[in-house]
Amino acid sequence: MRIKPKNSVELKKMAAASELAARTLDMITPHIKPGISTEKIDQLCHEFMIKHNAVPATLGYRGFPKSCCTSINDVICHGIPSEKDILKDGDIINVDVTAILDGYHGDTSRMYPVGDVSEENRLLMRTAYTCMMDAIDTVKSGSFLDEIGKTIQTKAEALGYGVVRDYCGHGLGRVFHEDPMVLHYYSGDPRQHIRLRKGSTFTIEPMINIGTFDGEVMEDDWTVRTKDRKNSAQYEHTIAVTEGGSDILTKSPEGYTDNLDL
Ligand code: MF3
Ligand code: CO
Ligand code: CO
Repeated sequence: MRIKPKNSVELKKMAAASELAARTLDMITPHIKPGISTEKIDQLCHEFMIKHNAVPATLGYRGFPKSCCTSINDVICHGIPSEKDILKDGDIINVDVTAILDGYHGDTSRMYPVGDVSEENRLLMRTAYTCMMDAIDTVKSGSFLDEIGKTIQTKAEALGYGVVRDYCGHGLGRVFHEDPMVLHYYSGDPRQHIRLRKGSTFTIEPMINIGTFDGEVMEDDWTVRTKDRKNSAQYEHTIAVTEGGSDILTKSPEGYTDNLDL
């Protein structure tokens, strides 16, 4: 498989969409406190993206009803914001936003501790974050795509965590989810052993579980929970492959560290 790299005009647009997605997560940071509903988080993210001339990519995507995903505690991904879900002290939450700006997608997510969070949960979040960053560090023009999954799996499993198999990172540009599929574990599939080239854009978004990697989709057809109901954490960046490494397009322009001093 060959991944079509983006030209410099496309990369500029990718960078702008990605920066806006990152700024949306920066904006929401001070609001993540006990008592806020995930509905309110969605509303704030929605308004911020619209105000900055972007379209929230998840709204209406395959029928998804909201402008971001909010995944609390044992929810692995694709939690649907709701008035009924009120954050409480000790929760951990992932907020995942994708902005479409000038036709291009920028996709990113972070974990937020709610109030006082247990050491077990902090370690989980820290692990998900370092797995993502270590995987990003393997990327450069000429490196192999499957180094990403190998790196994440080796690190997470050495610490006793499970790496989710059912959802992966993805190429993106004008299209939200395009080739390549970016696995977060090592599958041995030769189709994953491909060389990366300068200008390719894709996400790395490992979901790391305290217990089993297995999840199940809830009645609403979206929310994915861990089978054993132990907690899960995820971070996501959109990156562009460069000659000697990669550009993290969804880095916080405010200089917020992604992992908020975990
Ligand atoms: N933002 C998610 C991703 O990282 C996709 C969410 S799709 C939705 O790829 F429909 F659930 F919103
Ligand atoms: Co993504
Ligand atoms: Co995302």
